[in-house]
Amino acid sequence: MKKYIVVGNPIGHSLSPEIHNYWFKKNNIDANYEKKLLNKTDIPKVISEIRKKELNGVNITVPFKKDFINFVDEITHEAKETNSVNTLYLSNDKVIGHNTDVGGFELAIRHCKYDINKKKVLIIGAGGVVSSIIVALKKMKVEKIFLKNRTMEKAKTLLKGFPGVDLVKWEDIINVDMIINATSVGLKDGESLGIDLKGFGKNKFFYDVIYNPKETKFLNEARSLGNIVENGKMMFIYQAHQAFSVWHKIFPEIDDELIKLVEK
Ligand code: ATR
Repeated sequence: MKKYIVVGNPIGHSLSPEIHNYWFKKNNIDANYEKKLLNKTDIPKVISEIRKKELNGVNITVPFKKDFINFVDEITHEAKETNSVNTLYLSNDKVIGHNTDVGGFELAIRHCKYDINKKKVLIIGAGGVVSSIIVALKKMKVEKIFLKNRTMEKAKTLLKGFPGVDLVKWEDIINVDMIINATSVGLKDGESLGIDLKGFGKNKFFYDVIYNPKETKFLNEARSLGNIVENGKMMFIYQAHQAFSVWHKIFPEIDDELIKLVEK
């Protein structure tokens, strides 16, 4: 039986096992996927288990997406561009670090049928997932990316790798078409960013990378102000889909039953 894990700290919340085990069953693959709480010092052990084929694939979540880069043999183009790795596999006896968040975000936006071409986008936040969102937005040829973060210094550090992205002040409201919440604010129900969304106007596209709760206060307020809103559910599903296809060379079906697993 093949063995797959997702590692992170904390890890209790991860729904990756539900998704992958569902697809194993659907595709008659003899494999198991579990979640594992990791400490930074355990990283070399994970790499060695992949090398020995005791592990056939690993997903990485917060806060280790950067840390693994120093331990793998090679990283893919997407991982290099984002300086972030969330999927590991063995290829020609080399441990490869890959990033499926870029593809996950791009496919999620395409899935909503929102035409992002030439649009102006504001990203709120400077955490682990933001470099993947920036790379995906650039790939989709948006006109301009702006970014704001509560802690300016953290945003400045991130944007050293992305000189085309404009940093704006936390309190500034700017004229954009799409606003993305990429912070962790909203994970606890009712939490608010403290930004007055009225200033952005109507008929804008508000996207939240959070999918549990289904509708954060950010999305709820945006919706009541007459905007289009979307949560991060499909981004999460598509990043898993990309990892699955890399590992098993199969494009598994995203059916209603699978989507329900993530909505619980
Ligand atoms: P990381 O990847 O850095 O471990 P993350 O959980 O992916 O962290 O992202 C945390 C993001 O949420 C950061 O942008 C953080 O802002 P700071 O850099 O100022 O810490 C943001 N964030 C968390 N709590 C916040 C709050 N109460 N108000 C505004 N932003 C907040």
